[in-house]
Amino acid sequence: MGKVYVFDHPLIQHKLTFIRQKETGTKEFRELVDEVASLMAFEITRDLPLEEIEIDTPVSKAVTKTLAGKKLGIVPILRAGLGMVDGILKLIPAAKVGHVGLYRDPETLQPVEYYVKLPTDVEERDFIVVDPMLATGGSAVEAINSIKKRGAKNIKFMCLVACPEGVDAIKSAHPEVDIYIAALDEKLNEKGYIVPGLGDAGDRLYGTK
Ligand code: PRP
Ligand code: URA
Repeated sequence: MGKVYVFDHPLIQHKLTFIRQKETGTKEFRELVDEVASLMAFEITRDLPLEEIEIDTPVSKAVTKTLAGKKLGIVPILRAGLGMVDGILKLIPAAKVGHVGLYRDPETLQPVEYYVKLPTDVEERDFIVVDPMLATGGSAVEAINSIKKRGAKNIKFMCLVACPEGVDAIKSAHPEVDIYIAALDEKLNEKGYIVPGLGDAGDRLYGTK
């Protein structure tokens, strides 16, 4: 059974406050999302396997630890998920990046898929699907469906702001997926926006409306 982790790190919480504020402009919003994605990547990689190798320091030989070469894949859900990719790659530069393009139909709130491109060795990689928002959960559930259909087996989901409806949707469709959240908000409003949330993540990242 997958677990739900809500990160309570003070730096994540502090930066998230500015991300939420409506006065925060596009440039600062993008920078903060990038920083929070890095901090979350630091936490999410806590259990990566290590192996010992022998090296020479300037002083002596030493047996030290290095990452055991686990293959990772980051899959942003377009478009807003793109805002989190660079922050994660700063910490895990060897990860490959797949893309799943989905938009939420404004009337039905159902996800519509328009693009999928994954690394060719999809079956060998552990994936982190990323999107700033987990609202109804439709987009996340569909993105995970899409990469599973193409062979992905080990999948985590990471977002900035979630609400209980979205968490329940992932848990029921993909019970084995661990979910990593910076903040679990109260609810969805009648338009499918998270309350209090941060507004439309894609619009705030890219200055559209
Ligand atoms: C937003 C957000 C998620 C989705 C979440 O994307 O980035 O992908 O909504 O909502 P859900 O949990 O109810 O599916 P949007 O559909 O606005 O597309 P965009 O990123 O292209 O702006
Ligand atoms: N998508 C967003 O960008 N924001 C929300 O609050 C819900 C869905």
